[in-house]
Amino acid sequence: MFDIVVLASGRGSNFAALLAAQTRGETPIRIRALLSDKAKAPALELARNAGIAAVALAPRDYADRISFDQALFARAAEFTPNLIVLAGYMRVIDAAVIGQWRGKAINIHPSLLPKYPGLHTHARALEAGDNVHGSSVHFVTAELDGGPVIAQVEMPVCTDDNADTLAARLLAQEHRLLISTVDLIARGRIALGADGITFDGRTQQAPLKLNASGTLTSVE
Ligand code: GAR
Repeated sequence: MFDIVVLASGRGSNFAALLAAQTRGETPIRIRALLSDKAKAPALELARNAGIAAVALAPRDYADRISFDQALFARAAEFTPNLIVLAGYMRVIDAAVIGQWRGKAINIHPSLLPKYPGLHTHARALEAGDNVHGSSVHFVTAELDGGPVIAQVEMPVCTDDNADTLAARLLAQEHRLLISTVDLIARGRIALGADGITFDGRTQQAPLKLNASGTLTSVE
């Protein structure tokens, strides 16, 4: 089995979607733990209800960011994960700490990176007049939403969309994107090589795309 630790700061719908895929038996993953920087994160409750280890560490209990990040990732390492999945984890991670997890930590972000790293991605897409919006899964580096992009899902923006309708419609697509990406990593088909992301052993020049039938395909 391919062991996963999920980090989440809030609601946890992406965590729930991954867990549901595991429960359906459609992907060879085993979620070992849910870790959070927020003691009240609903994601922790979802984990507890599913019988999964739920751990909250408070940044204010640590002297500085690096001490917190070291503690959080040391706690994650206790579950010997093959992959750490950031699913709505809203903190930047210290470079020295995340550097030890190169190719072993991914994040989902609600924009077509490199567009709109950071917050308010839906409002920014609307403001820019984009007619296509989407979500990206990328390997994590110390740069905010900045690591190599593995895969994306695209979605049309409608004329009557606002930030809330866009966010809600995208969320369902994010769940599909995260499940598919994690599944291919678990099966050893996606990895981070010396020259970038590889898919079935071939280095990719562009992110994989999730098609309408839910399959990730190379755009080469
Ligand atoms: C998702 O939309 C995810 O892409 C975003 O937070 C939401 C978490 O939802 N992540 C980021 O903005 C990271 N920069 P969830 O808690 O229901 O999974």
